[in-house]
Amino acid sequence: CAKPLVDAFNRRISYLRLSVTDRCDLRCTYCMPEAMQFLPKKDVLSLEELHKLALAMIDRGITKIRLTGGEPLVRRDVVDLIAALGRKLGDGLEELTLTTNGTQLADHAEAIAAAGVRRINVSLDTMDGALFQQLSRRDRLVQVLQGIAAAKEAGLKVKINTVALKGLNEEEIPYLVEWAHAQGHDITLIEVMPLGKVDGERVDHYLPLTAVRDALEARFTLEDSDFRTGGPSRYVTVRETGGRLGFITPLTNNFCAGCNRIRVTATGQLFACLGGAEMVDLRAALRSDDPDARLADALDEAMRIKPERHHFRIAEGVGPAQPRHMSVTGG
Ligand code: GTP
Ligand code: 5AD
Ligand code: SF4
Repeated sequence: CAKPLVDAFNRRISYLRLSVTDRCDLRCTYCMPEAMQFLPKKDVLSLEELHKLALAMIDRGITKIRLTGGEPLVRRDVVDLIAALGRKLGDGLEELTLTTNGTQLADHAEAIAAAGVRRINVSLDTMDGALFQQLSRRDRLVQVLQGIAAAKEAGLKVKINTVALKGLNEEEIPYLVEWAHAQGHDITLIEVMPLGKVDGERVDHYLPLTAVRDALEARFTLEDSDFRTGGPSRYVTVRETGGRLGFITPLTNNFCAGCNRIRVTATGQLFACLGGAEMVDLRAALRSDDPDARLADALDEAMRIKPERHHFRIAEGVGPAQPRHMSVTGG
């Protein structure tokens, strides 16, 4: 590749999380307020701009691209982007994937698989319809379960993402693990992060995964595994089910030393760290007179400014210095 992306801490950046929209058809309480303001569409990168950006990144050694949102599948033309990027698989790009809430997955699973996507991550915090409605403020559990089934049917490997929430889905976690494994899916538990203001206090439902792991060990035999997906999750195998269970622990055990990631918002802001305010404007580069040179400079700058680690503090609700929601940064 042209010039690999290596940051000031000698971390090689190979994983791009590319948000295609800040919009979402759910309103998960830990993610956004009910009255979330979405960006004007004119500020969002066009399909052509997203494509050009992704190609420039692949040229600089990005081998894994994950499309995120908001909810990526609410953007009508996203499947065209997936198909276009799918043509780079085996030609610089090793993995193309997405993280979705699953509500519209049933409509798109086949096209996604046909484009060369092999595995997708689907968010699912509960299998209880009433709790789903409470957590996401929308009544869409049935669609999500249909979406997950359609993904499996289309031959996609599914990883379920579950944010662990004290007093909400806490008791259900062992059942979610058993269900996911019985379906042949991996499942990863996630600690809630302080990203942007929500209507309640996240700390009220913060559940450290150290405690969840202890509780799970009372019931299952967890065997450490070397399996890695290139993201922050650390996996165990559950002996009783034979399935994989991941833990994403930004609060209790941050994984920043091995960080290989950058993320780009739907408006083309590259955030070098999920927890940092450091940002470069790729949209300005893309829309300039000399996009190739400006993009190259912006990526060099991103490598200079990527911070060593995040400094999230859940008890005080401390997130990035410039507060932003997960739906903007794409996680
Ligand atoms: P794979 O490892 O490829 O399966 O995916 P992933 O875990 O990288 O992606 P996914 O979109 O499923 O993200 C799961 C959770 O990890 C989300 O809550 C993300 O915000 C979080 N996450 C991903 N990358 C980072 C990171 O660099 N820092 C922090 N703090 N959280 C991250
Ligand atoms: N903290 C942790 N995870 C979050 N997600 C959304 N907001 C937060 C947050 N504040 C999760 C979603 C999805 C993944 C991309 O991030 O549930 O699974
Ligand atoms: Fe990387 Fe920042 Fe995430 Fe830590 S918080 S893993 S440094 S992006």
